[in-house]
Amino acid sequence: MATGSYKPAGDLKRPYVHGYDSRELIRLQDQASTLADLLHYDTVYPPGSRVLEPGCGVGSQTVTLARNSPGADILSVDISSPSLHEARKRVKNAGLSNVNFMQGDIFNLPFAPASFDHVFVCFVLEHLSRPLAALTRLKDLLKKDGTVTVIEGDHGSAYFYPDSAAARQAIQCQVELQKCAGGNANIGRELHPLLNKAGFRSIQVSPRMVYADASKPHLVDGFTRKTFTAMIEGVRTSSLEAGILDAETFDKGIQDLYRTAEPDGVFCYTFFKAVASC
Ligand SMILES: C[S@@+](CC[C@H](N)C(=O)[O-])C[C@H]1O[C@@H](n2cnc3c(N)ncnc32)[C@H](O)[C@@H]1O
Repeated sequence: MATGSYKPAGDLKRPYVHGYDSRELIRLQDQASTLADLLHYDTVYPPGSRVLEPGCGVGSQTVTLARNSPGADILSVDISSPSLHEARKRVKNAGLSNVNFMQGDIFNLPFAPASFDHVFVCFVLEHLSRPLAALTRLKDLLKKDGTVTVIEGDHGSAYFYPDSAAARQAIQCQVELQKCAGGNANIGRELHPLLNKAGFRSIQVSPRMVYADASKPHLVDGFTRKTFTAMIEGVRTSSLEAGILDAETFDKGIQDLYRTAEPDGVFCYTFFKAVASC
């Protein structure tokens, strides 16, 4: 889930909507550490298995993957070389030695068919204009009975108290920008049909809801403020430049999103985690 300096490549028609600046790096890290238990408690790969993580970004999920499966051999790939640089540092600082990194495009990875036991893709399909083609390509790289794990958000699942039309409009800016860049910020709800069309079987989709109220201060801070609202706030300039919303309404929307993190506020968002076999 997720706004640049790298050249669009592969499937990206326009630059990655969240960009690669330092605020986005911090946001991705906050997102990963806040959501680690919710999203990853059941992602464990057996010792000796080969795991491919395409679109690893700055390695926020990679660290959790590698810790949860210390015996697995993880290969993490991204199209962005600055992100890979950051990911390498992060994994090294975490003292993990079971991860290798490679720059590459998810649509054109230089591996023979059936090279991996498992593929793990998190918050990547939402940025691709051809997510089905990506899944089909990844399926070819899996061994017989190998698995794919896909985690995506869905901005249509965001609701909150106090409700706010301006906040919903600000969120919609992100949805529109992502659409213009060829992606789909509401892709979480499509994981089952996409995996089915790609030819996977035994597809299990598990919705993972983040529910944040004052009784869960770590989620209010880590998710409502630092992950979700920070993400929407990050698309202010692009949204105004694209003429999707006026500055006053956008800023009111952000203010109202922060308002949901006050002691009487509530914020809900659902991620979708799918696991399927070849
Ligand atoms: C939202 S980030 C997610 C990073 C990481 N998976 C996480 O959850 O923190 C999406 C990543 O996908 C990468 N990406 C986008 N298109 C790609 C492609 N065609 N091939 C490989 N990586 C790609 C971007 O460079 C970016 O690092």
